[in-house]
Amino acid sequence: MKSIKVMTVFGTRPEAIKMAPLIKQLEQTPGIESKVCVTAQHREMLDMVLDLFDIKPDYDLDIMKHGQTITDITTRVLKGLGEVFKNDRPDLVLVHGDTTTTFVGALAAFYEKIPVGHVEAGLRSGNVYSPYPEEMNRILTTQLATLHFAPTVQNFNNLNNNGISTDNIYITGNTVIDALLKVVKDSYKFNNEVIDNIDFEHKKVILMTCHRRENWGKPMEDIFLAVKEIAETYSDVEVVFPVHLNPQIQTLAQSILGNIPTIHLIEPLDYEPFVNILNKSYLILTDSGGVQEEAPSLGKPILVLRTETERPEAVEAGTVKVVGVNKDKIFEEASCLLTNIEAYNKMAKAQNPYGDGKASERIVKAIIEKFGI
Ligand code: UD1
Ligand code: UDP
Repeated sequence: MKSIKVMTVFGTRPEAIKMAPLIKQLEQTPGIESKVCVTAQHREMLDMVLDLFDIKPDYDLDIMKHGQTITDITTRVLKGLGEVFKNDRPDLVLVHGDTTTTFVGALAAFYEKIPVGHVEAGLRSGNVYSPYPEEMNRILTTQLATLHFAPTVQNFNNLNNNGISTDNIYITGNTVIDALLKVVKDSYKFNNEVIDNIDFEHKKVILMTCHRRENWGKPMEDIFLAVKEIAETYSDVEVVFPVHLNPQIQTLAQSILGNIPTIHLIEPLDYEPFVNILNKSYLILTDSGGVQEEAPSLGKPILVLRTETERPEAVEAGTVKVVGVNKDKIFEEASCLLTNIEAYNKMAKAQNPYGDGKASERIVKAIIEKFGI
């Protein structure tokens, strides 16, 4: 039987979460030798996911430095991956989404003339500075890739409008749903001191995350001031905020939200407790891409703390609202969902525009067909 070597390359927490089910699927497929290379653009936040899904990388470039710039990541990943690809020579490299690891992984493979499969292809915001640098990373990865795995029809159309042949685009759903369905359980027990002390029955729990580069500085300050006002206005609200390990975000979060008893600033959570607290929360405030895809499946209203989204499907479905980064607007929109039960119920409907949990299966099937295994 013909056999091919597929190397999966990723570096950050969201890429790891969304690649994990695909790696498991590759590992169990006859005719595919699965290899994993992590750049470790993230370190601790990546390792948490590798541990949970029991993934042992064949290569670990260990490139993370505190306070790294995009240029630092680009140069270190390009050099490291160039050597791995030259020595190991996979038949196909898989990259995911829109991080600097993604784009540079595709570039390093192109330099070695190795075909690239792009998982979560075709998302577009239409503004190269928002999200920055992710929108440009997606555009460049599209140009470098041979196979494009689009989560939705809209993503398929974006790629087609970019001149990609429909023969090379597969609509698969998003692997984030494959991962989510494996770990969300109504009976989940947290074993976390802060979360265990929260009265989910009588309190309205707001789960928030915030990390995007284009929000650094004044927009993030305004977001945090809005959350402070929400917590100080509504006595039945508790806020849980697992703070990204970026030192800039840690410092700002501590300085604005650090001394408010109903705001819990905690370390990033493992994926399992994170999606399970997502499942128990009343409302989600986030600028994360992945969380925008997970929360609609669980019927949780989300206010997106950004001025645009490349994930319009859940906005159209009604669970997600893009509210921007203005302090008064965020307070007003959150207040509406905290006090107006009709407005809340209108948004709190389980909608899942991102797939049925079988995206990894479809991606592997497409690879098998394309390589004639
Ligand atoms: C990166 C991606 C972004 C993605 C996000 C997911 C780029 C340019 N950005 O942004 O697209 O949405 O990951 O979270 O690719 N840090 C740690 N430990 C960790 C992770 C981060 O200490 O495990 C700290 C380090 O000081 C690091 C900093 O956070 O330098 C920023 O990490 P970086 O990957 O550069 O940017 P993110 O904002 O995480
Ligand atoms: N997540 C997690 N622990 C946390 C916060 C988020 O496991 O404390 C997960 C979340 O479920 C989602 C992913 O991390 O799958 C989102 O990652 P992030 O917000 O860092 O990046 P983005 O999706 O914005 O690129």
